[in-house]
Amino acid sequence: MTRKILVTSALPYANGPIHIGHMVEYIQTDIWARFQRLRGNHCYYVCADDAHGTPIMLRAQQEGITPQELIDNMNTEHRADFAGFNIQFDNYHTTHSEENRILSEQVYLAAKEAGHIDTRVIKQAYDPEAEMFLPDRFIKGECPKCGAKDQYGDNCEVCGATYSNTEVVNPYSVVTGATPIEKDSEHYFFKLSNFKEFLEKWLASGSVQKEVVNKMNEWVEDGLSDWDISRDAPYWGFKIPGTEDKYFYVWLDAPIGYLASFKNLCDKNGENFDDYWAKDSTAEVHHFIGKDIAYFHTLFWPAQLEAAGYRLPTSVNCHGFLKVNGEKMSKSRGTFIQARVFLNHLPAEQLRYYFASKLNNTIDDLDLNLEDFQQRANSDLVGKVVNIASRCASFINKKFDSKLSAELPDPKLYAKFTAASDEIAESYESRQYSRAMRQIMALADLANQYIDENKPWVLIKDEETKDQVQGICTQGVNMFRALLCYLKPVLPELAENAEKFLNAGEMDWTSAQSPLLNHELGKFKALMTRIEPTQIEAMLDENKQVLEAIQAAAADKPELSKHLTDDQIKPEITYEDFDKVDLRIATIEKADHVKGADKLLCLTLDIGGEKRQVFAGIKSAYDPESLVGKQTVMVANLAPRKMRFGMSEGMVLAAGPGGSDLFILQPDPGAEAGMRVK
Ligand code: MSP
Ligand code: ZN
Repeated sequence: MTRKILVTSALPYANGPIHIGHMVEYIQTDIWARFQRLRGNHCYYVCADDAHGTPIMLRAQQEGITPQELIDNMNTEHRADFAGFNIQFDNYHTTHSEENRILSEQVYLAAKEAGHIDTRVIKQAYDPEAEMFLPDRFIKGECPKCGAKDQYGDNCEVCGATYSNTEVVNPYSVVTGATPIEKDSEHYFFKLSNFKEFLEKWLASGSVQKEVVNKMNEWVEDGLSDWDISRDAPYWGFKIPGTEDKYFYVWLDAPIGYLASFKNLCDKNGENFDDYWAKDSTAEVHHFIGKDIAYFHTLFWPAQLEAAGYRLPTSVNCHGFLKVNGEKMSKSRGTFIQARVFLNHLPAEQLRYYFASKLNNTIDDLDLNLEDFQQRANSDLVGKVVNIASRCASFINKKFDSKLSAELPDPKLYAKFTAASDEIAESYESRQYSRAMRQIMALADLANQYIDENKPWVLIKDEETKDQVQGICTQGVNMFRALLCYLKPVLPELAENAEKFLNAGEMDWTSAQSPLLNHELGKFKALMTRIEPTQIEAMLDENKQVLEAIQAAAADKPELSKHLTDDQIKPEITYEDFDKVDLRIATIEKADHVKGADKLLCLTLDIGGEKRQVFAGIKSAYDPESLVGKQTVMVANLAPRKMRFGMSEGMVLAAGPGGSDLFILQPDPGAEAGMRVK
């Protein structure tokens, strides 16, 4: 029976670019949707940008554009990034759309009608200069516990304390720097406690992973306090019907964006919206999300749907967070890798495979170890899978007129490939992709073993045995085809290229069941190349530059970012710590542009008889000519760093936030190259 399925991923915020952490989710969902289509099910995959909220409003202000322009630009960028990773949406919309406005009002009014909305006056932090209420993350100040400066309004990154923004010492608004005052405001609340029994039943229904259910039950037992769904003007969002200056909080209309994107699709292709969303729908609806937003999707969202008379999701599937090289993604370590930068240097398919080989149906975090990524992609995909085809195809192409034999010499072996179909399908269906990849690679090992044992390259040389090669290679090509059929949800591009060479049309999940015999192959072309370590280095280098550029651009901007990027004094060090740093007066002998680098100059420094080459990120502030002959201060004992452009053997000292505001240090006249700075 053909299933009718609707799949979604969380809607990414429109205030920043897509990074590879996001990609875990979109790749996970895309694999599942492709798998369903390959199985012959009817599966839609829809998504949208989450385009409302204070951060988007302020960022647009900062860039001197309208919020509409900002979200339009982001929408274009996001679509391109997703396309680059072969994410196949049936629709990609935005929450700032007419469909979403209508549906959000409808959900709200239905909830209001049923008595689930309350209003009450609350006290809130207010920036008197910007004339706006401040969300917690736009208030900073000293930690009430440890006194650390510039901590957020709700928690301290130094000592880990959490507190309310009224407890912060010497608080300031990151928007203007002004001291926030408290102001009364009427807010609208969604009475979640009305849904206590309903939510208990929903959580027990098996639609959500057990580990998530346990966490959510704690909230339910704690009594489900009312959910604040309004924000005061100025706010970038939808106005609440019947009010003049109240807006829906972004999380009210964000999940309704799933409905809105699907509605938009229905209006384009004639699909029936109610078939999927009415209470009596027999279709399946599956959400894929990160564990950080489980609360919104497994408590608020079902309550919203229930209040407005829609059906509930079939499942809400949570995944863990991506780490890079074993640590949380970090801007300062340069591991906050942007999707676009990754694509500039590395192939998307290999990342899809790597994530698949790590993903399962739990909320455990997963690690992208870049060295392991490179090795695994090379050894599994190039070394095992593609290798089977390249070992067999050229013999068939060259020696047998591209014709496959009429029979498989080892049908028993091939039967292992067809028999695995159900198990592998079950692994995909239950989102245990790592198990699916292991099952497929075990078959790939069998295929390679078969070719190793039969040695077609030896048999071909002997007139007597030469004819056996056609059969052996027919066996090989068919085993390769079965593998690709099972890998197609993960590697759509590789599968498509293989389909060209196999010359038998598009594969679906059952294709492997009937081997290609007496069949003419197309010309074999290399299907995949190895990833070189230099590609990864180049990717990291560019990413570092991109992150630095963002930091520098933010520092050039008015108040908002000045405060956001405020530098703290680092923890105290001893004199011995300081004494480890060998600082020397250096004369700049040469300064050159670096081909392909937007921010770097290559400096040749003389430190008293010894020469050093240093790449310095000061191009935005200095012409190379103006530097030649100048003296400056360098760190002379910094471990050399290999960069895309060559070795950097030290560092010159400069101050300033970046951009044109960079100032290299210069000694008073009289200092000589090589003198120690103490
Ligand atoms: N806009 C909200 C979602 C609204 S859905 C109605 C949001 N956006 S987000 O851009 O911050 O995140 C989008 C998705 O990417 C979320 O499911 C989030 O969990 C996921 N990820 C963001 N960073 C991630 C990692 N480092 N690792 C894995 N997933 C990550 O939340
Ligand atoms: Zn603290």
